[in-house]
Amino acid sequence: MQETITKTVQLHDKKFAPHISATEIEKAVVRVATKINTDLAGKNPLFVCVLNGVFLFAADLLRKIETPCEISFVKVSSYEGTASSGEVKTQIGLKEDIKGRTIVLVEDIIDSGNTIAKLLPILESQQPAAIKIATLLFKPSAFKRDFKIDYIGLEIPNDFVVGYGLDYNGLGRNLPEIYKITE
Ligand code: IMP
Ligand code: MG
Repeated sequence: MQETITKTVQLHDKKFAPHISATEIEKAVVRVATKINTDLAGKNPLFVCVLNGVFLFAADLLRKIETPCEISFVKVSSYEGTASSGEVKTQIGLKEDIKGRTIVLVEDIIDSGNTIAKLLPILESQQPAAIKIATLLFKPSAFKRDFKIDYIGLEIPNDFVVGYGLDYNGLGRNLPEIYKITE
């Protein structure tokens, strides 16, 4: 059956239009999982997922990982409204011993790259064997850093999006599709 989403949604003062369907999201998740399954088979990767936005992507991605693995979460926030504040606050630190481990740092979206840039040295100081970076969405034209992103689900333009875990001031995380701001 052909999937069409035509509804726009209002969250707080802003309107959002359908942008990426649940089917397209699913395909992107499969792409990322397939590459990780090939690259990291037998390495017992520890997936370090960046809350809050990542919760749906992490859940769907991990169900598709076919090699033994572990998952943990860190919590940071850098967004206020529809723009990155530039200041990244680490709200939950990692409890696991990651020395010698293969880490996959998992984000819902990489925009400026500030969040990952803040987390990388903290993780690196604990001497993991490797740190891979996985993100569902990537905004290349907003990216201000130079770290390598190993696994990208979809590249998108520099528009503010919500849904599938991503929010606008708390709202929109529950939407199964991704919506783009219209005003
Ligand atoms: P960065 O630090 O600028 O790379 O942004 C990373 C974080 O900002 C993401 O994990 C999201 O939580 C949030 N973010 C970035 N772009 C968007 C967006 O378009 N919609 C909702 N949240 C976003
Ligand atoms: Mg996030």
